[in-house]
Amino acid sequence: MRHPLFQTRITELLGIRHPILCGGMGPSVSDARYVAAVVNAGGMGFIVAAGFPDPEEFRAQLRQCRELTSGKRFGVNLYLSGQAKAVALLQEQVRILAEEEVLCVETSGGSPEAVLSSLREAGIKVLHKVPAVRYARSAARLGVDAVIVVGNDCGGHPGTYGISSMVQAALAPREISAPLVIGGGIGTGSQLAATLMMGADAILMGSRMLVSEELWIHRDYKEQLVQSDGTQSVVVKTGLRQHHRVLNNDSAKAVAALDAAGASEFERYRPHVMGALTTQAYRTGDSRLGMLDYGPSVVFANAVQTVEAIFDEVLDDAQRAMRRFEGLRCNAQL
Ligand SMILES: Cc1cc2nc3c(=O)[nH]c(=O)nc-3n(C[C@H](O)[C@H](O)[C@H](O)COP(=O)(O)O)c2cc1C
Repeated sequence: MRHPLFQTRITELLGIRHPILCGGMGPSVSDARYVAAVVNAGGMGFIVAAGFPDPEEFRAQLRQCRELTSGKRFGVNLYLSGQAKAVALLQEQVRILAEEEVLCVETSGGSPEAVLSSLREAGIKVLHKVPAVRYARSAARLGVDAVIVVGNDCGGHPGTYGISSMVQAALAPREISAPLVIGGGIGTGSQLAATLMMGADAILMGSRMLVSEELWIHRDYKEQLVQSDGTQSVVVKTGLRQHHRVLNNDSAKAVAALDAAGASEFERYRPHVMGALTTQAYRTGDSRLGMLDYGPSVVFANAVQTVEAIFDEVLDDAQRAMRRFEGLRCNAQL
């Protein structure tokens, strides 16, 4: 494991060695084993609560993660939805998080307002993830512990404005005084160094991590990602205004056709976006069907590697980037 290179408000807030967060990956891609590997490598990871709707299975995941990290604390991703059934499940999940002493949550979807006070009372730190700085402002006003802003390049949900990570990384530190994490298209140490230089406190990676050995998804899919040049992503579900960046496979093409035809009823999309297809693809490695979150930063994955090896690569690259930067500076006093 590499020595710490950076001390930021996020490394201090979460008590982690490196300012590297690995975003939750659903439905159950980021499970206890993967999250433990991220935490043991010195970053912060998040088990996706929605992937384990059975409360006892969810609790078992949390306990397994605690065991695999020898007691180190870790995070959970909570999807915030306004639907009544989802709210009841969310409240149950928050109760379990409190009982199992989870350190922090990565919240995404809707506003964290409804769950903020119960998370706070339980001493759980809230990192709210948004796809544009304008939502980050509202989250910061609510008093979350940190804001994560992801740009248009991200695998998953880039929001409807399509603002690049480069613009978000420059804009967010000017607007947000809370500890700040930037994600979307990040997979190298030069990006880590640049993001910190632009004013953020940490990076968030998702797609780059899909080749991690510790993930249960089929090795054939990981090998496909290693071969990928990152150009196979597409944003679909625009007709539902649920913009989703995924692998451009047969399901994505069918959904894109519905978008182009002006469809806006979920029932027409359902056969192509069912979660069961996605899980099947991850299990079998046959990626033709299913909504497979995928961003262009997979281009930085050149091998199936352990999480720790990926972190080492990123940190070594950050060192090189900083040396290069120092070498570019003029001797004249600025
Ligand atoms: C396979 C996969 C599944 C994801 N699932 C979720 C999820 O369930 N909830 C969530 O908030 N974000 C999810 N994300 C988004 C990531 O947490 C993170 O925000 C994103 O991957 C960062 O952008 P990048 O992919 O360019 O690194 C997913 C991303 C990937 C690649």
